[in-house]
Amino acid sequence: MPTEFISLTFPNASTEVNPIAGAGIDPEYLVRYARNLDDYDFNYTLVPYDSSSYDPFTIGATIAAATKKLKIIIALRPNTLYPTVAAKALATLDQLSSGRAVVHFIAGGSDAEQAKEGDFLPKDQRYARLEEYIRILRRAWQSPEPFDWDGKFYQFKQFANRVRPANGVAIPVSVGGSSEEAYRIGGALADIFGLWGEPLKETKEQIDRIYQAAAQAGRPNSDRPRIWVTFRPIIAETDELAWQRAYRTLDILKANQARNSGGGNPSSDGKAVPVQPPTPQNVGSQRLLEIASRGDVHDRALWYPTVTATNARGASTALVGSYQTVVDSILDYVALGAELISIRGYDNLNDAIDYGRFILPKVRSALQERKSREPDSS
Ligand SMILES: Cc1cc2nc3c(=O)[nH]c(=O)nc-3n(C[C@H](O)[C@H](O)[C@H](O)COP(=O)(O)O)c2cc1C
Repeated sequence: MPTEFISLTFPNASTEVNPIAGAGIDPEYLVRYARNLDDYDFNYTLVPYDSSSYDPFTIGATIAAATKKLKIIIALRPNTLYPTVAAKALATLDQLSSGRAVVHFIAGGSDAEQAKEGDFLPKDQRYARLEEYIRILRRAWQSPEPFDWDGKFYQFKQFANRVRPANGVAIPVSVGGSSEEAYRIGGALADIFGLWGEPLKETKEQIDRIYQAAAQAGRPNSDRPRIWVTFRPIIAETDELAWQRAYRTLDILKANQARNSGGGNPSSDGKAVPVQPPTPQNVGSQRLLEIASRGDVHDRALWYPTVTATNARGASTALVGSYQTVVDSILDYVALGAELISIRGYDNLNDAIDYGRFILPKVRSALQERKSREPDSS
């Protein structure tokens, strides 16, 4: 399988370093961003999920209508949609986009975040529910007959689905997370497994655990989940310029963190007082923070201060350097077995265009060149 690239969808011009307070959906921006991804040969865009944010399905349908090749990854928390409804919604998007829908499952990393939408299951149960949910979706996409379901989390009778995926079989299923439950369920059931960028050694350990779980579930090596790894590259023409940019970005992230954690309680000199943020409950973020405590730079260019500055909120490890340094770093992960590389920056649209001009073609041509040197490539 070729190496593929993923970006993230943004509904407006607001960014982490330049937030626009109260920004709503900017349809023109959304379409422009998506079309740039399509034109610069990104393969996928992830439409993320957050309890306080926009509906990924309508955003995804808008992107599908504005693009030709880009695949749309819908982030989905099982607690937010009954599985039969999700099966039809995903298949509808898949047909509308001629087979470009993918679903990325999130068991839910935070009890407080889940409670906001009425989900009070503990995390291990949320993963057990996810397992049942994926099995229902696959059955709903394929079953020629109406079927009953009598599971632990869902029960229904005689569900008959006329809305099939474009290929008549299934939509690719992705699972993300770094806990043992994530490895077990993703290893057993996922087509794609999503990770956040960690150093090469730790990434290799995670990939091995996912493959082990796949083998334990009886999957042959030819049917293991494809590995997706996410980074936040900060690039420039030279390493020196990229590092200058990285430190400027970090200063802004730190100032935002201090402002947000100060909670509007300025000290006597008027400055926001940073409060130590609580340790995140999801293992993926805990791992990032632990690695950050061991050093700022790992391997060639993997940079962790952006993790600490955001308390590992989502994908937050940067890759800092010249175009070539970042290309070489990505190639290191491809050599480990990563087939999907997710890259998004801090200046969302401009960074996506820069990656499209300076990173994607170089990675692809380096891989092509390597392939042509393999003895059996003819
Ligand atoms: C590539 C990737 C994308 C993710 N996207 C989202 C998202 O859109 N919304 C969300 O709430 N969590 C997202 N997550 C977070 C995890 O899925 C979540 O924290 C997980 O349910 C529990 O993590 P754990 O198994 O590491 O404890 C994403 C994770 C990864 C690796």
